[in-house]
Amino acid sequence: MTAQIIDGKAFAARVREQVADHVSALKSDHGITPGLAVVLVGEDPASQVYVRSKGKMTIEVGMASFEHKLDADTSEADLLALIGRLNADPAVHGILVQLPLPDHMNSDLVINAIDPAKDVDGFHISNVGLLGTGQKSMVPCTPLGCLMMLRDHLGSLSGKDAVVVGRSNIVGKPMFHLLLGDSCTVTVCHSRTKDLADVVRRADIVIAAVGRPQMVKGDWIKPGATVIDVGINRVDAPEKGAGNTRLVGDVDFDSAAQVAGAITPVPGGVGPMTIACLLANTLTACCRANGLREPEGLTA
Ligand code: GUN
Repeated sequence: MTAQIIDGKAFAARVREQVADHVSALKSDHGITPGLAVVLVGEDPASQVYVRSKGKMTIEVGMASFEHKLDADTSEADLLALIGRLNADPAVHGILVQLPLPDHMNSDLVINAIDPAKDVDGFHISNVGLLGTGQKSMVPCTPLGCLMMLRDHLGSLSGKDAVVVGRSNIVGKPMFHLLLGDSCTVTVCHSRTKDLADVVRRADIVIAAVGRPQMVKGDWIKPGATVIDVGINRVDAPEKGAGNTRLVGDVDFDSAAQVAGAITPVPGGVGPMTIACLLANTLTACCRANGLREPEGLTA
């Protein structure tokens, strides 16, 4: 079998188009422009690339983009004061503080200072608790993107056996709750899991989110399973010439694609969905803030 490739780039473009249509209607029908504030502390090159890309796409879908770039030695108190101003600003519907923060800051304290209604990352402890108890919340963007792709590809997920490899707060744990919410039977695996390959082999749905390049092999995959690869790992690529690198996922794509029914590639799979879902969350937050009906298909 050769797996169908789930094209996250194309799917993310469709999500952004839907978001842009809703934004346009919000402007014309209600005079409201959704706004997203992104806060970057320091000059981490990877973070700068992400933040630039977020700002560009925010504007492309017609939203207002507010970028706040702070020096690496900014005090935690000054960052908290900025978050307080953004919380109080009616033009700002979503706030994202780019992680990681410099070592002298307490990330949990900073994230929990964001108004939960504007927490478009879904990292605030209130949103974590709401998701964990099946209540309406802001949902972390990467797991939301995975869920959207699964629903799009499989329709109903009810009764499917899902295995999540990785137990991070950002992906593994929220993914568990989302899959459970869609009535999957969910197993979460991690570095201490016994017979990991055997557990993964039982799955109709595999979510690989461990951050270990090409760890999940083709012979771990049940024939016909749907494989979502969240990993983004840079590895040496001597075949491209000395000193070159390439991106690979947490799944050994070539062997897994021989067995799976469908699989997301890296790059071009889950990655583009994360920013698309950030924009979808900002739209959702804006609708909720204004007492308007939430867009369908863009939330969990
Ligand atoms: N850094 C890398 N990914 C993310 C993300 O999804 N949200 C935030 N806030 N920071 C990140």
